[in-house]
Amino acid sequence: MTPIRIDDYEGLARERMERSAYDYYAGGAGDERTLAANRAAFDAITLRPRALVDVSRIDVATTVLGQPVALPVLLSPTAFNRLAHDDGEMAAARAARTAGTVMIGSTLSTCTLEDVATAGQGPLWFQLYVYKDRGLTQELIARAEACGYGALVLTVDTPLLGRRYRDLRNNFVLPEGISMRNFEAAMTNAARWGVHSSFSSYVHDLFDATLTWDAVSWLLGQTRLPILVKGILTEEDASLAVHNGVSGVIVSNHGGRQLDGVNASIDALPEVVDAVAGRVEVLMDGGIRRGTDVLKALALGARAVCIGRPYLWALAAAGEAGVVDVLRILREELALAMALSGRPTVASIDRSLVRKRG
Ligand code: FNR
Ligand code: LAC
Repeated sequence: MTPIRIDDYEGLARERMERSAYDYYAGGAGDERTLAANRAAFDAITLRPRALVDVSRIDVATTVLGQPVALPVLLSPTAFNRLAHDDGEMAAARAARTAGTVMIGSTLSTCTLEDVATAGQGPLWFQLYVYKDRGLTQELIARAEACGYGALVLTVDTPLLGRRYRDLRNNFVLPEGISMRNFEAAMTNAARWGVHSSFSSYVHDLFDATLTWDAVSWLLGQTRLPILVKGILTEEDASLAVHNGVSGVIVSNHGGRQLDGVNASIDALPEVVDAVAGRVEVLMDGGIRRGTDVLKALALGARAVCIGRPYLWALAAAGEAGVVDVLRILREELALAMALSGRPTVASIDRSLVRKRG
């Protein structure tokens, strides 16, 4: 079967992947209410198209933090891509480059960040988890800078790992031969999973749960790269982020994997956009599966969106080519939705295009 929509890739991935790896990718925290809400909230938004607009030319290109992208869809940082495909994050980075977009590489990559940069040769940003071991954290930042990553994405919703029943049930661990490669060259071995009994105890033992907004000033002092914070869901935190000097905010609930019961990302987006008031760029992720989802997020003020699971499913199903295809599908669906709604350019998409049902 040739996949024609993003969801087709999930079906293929489910057939191909080990059950516990599939569950790690697919699952959310708790009763997975937020995971489900991320989708349901898009369905609850309807479109108000305009007629008789010249849509003979559609341009889906834009910029994010000044970086030109061929479409307003980036790759969210996701851990352990080699669970999907041997080439893991390197394949995802090559695909992002081919599609003309940014990949955000995870700290918990199963290829080294250097290998990802060499493979990709395209625009990359580095997602940072701050370890209690600040030396280790500084080393990661220096390495990312040295091999050309263009921004740091500080994930702020994971001081501890969300409670994920599927992983507990499956006793999820990384299989033999797959490891957090970023720490192999690092000055300490402590950041390997090995000695920690589960992924959640790894996070508990090693991530710095004392972090406050001071961490942003600390980071600004460590790097010349622009900093985005990922995992903002409220206007209060959006204002604090701007006040603390970030260059961008990513509205995200971590794909429903952290605090179950929080708002769908798309529902949190408007209050963040209003609080930020154009001072920095706002991106969002969570539940993007259709071109119309991208359109709705842009209408509600996102500069661009990011996708997580869709490219993991594609990696599992077809490697690099699958990820290229997923980005093609989203680009084509978005372009068609823009044409049919009378919005030929990204700049012409505004809030008047959407209405919330109910
Ligand atoms: C993630 N996410 C994530 N976020 C992050 O900042 N660092 C990470 O290492 C990871 N790892 C990770 C692994 C897997 C398997 C998933 C599914 C997600 C969250 C990710 O960046 C993003 O917020 C969500 O995936 C977006 O939701 P969708 O697109 O998966 O619905
Ligand atoms: C996750 C972590 C790695 O969501 O961010 O599994």
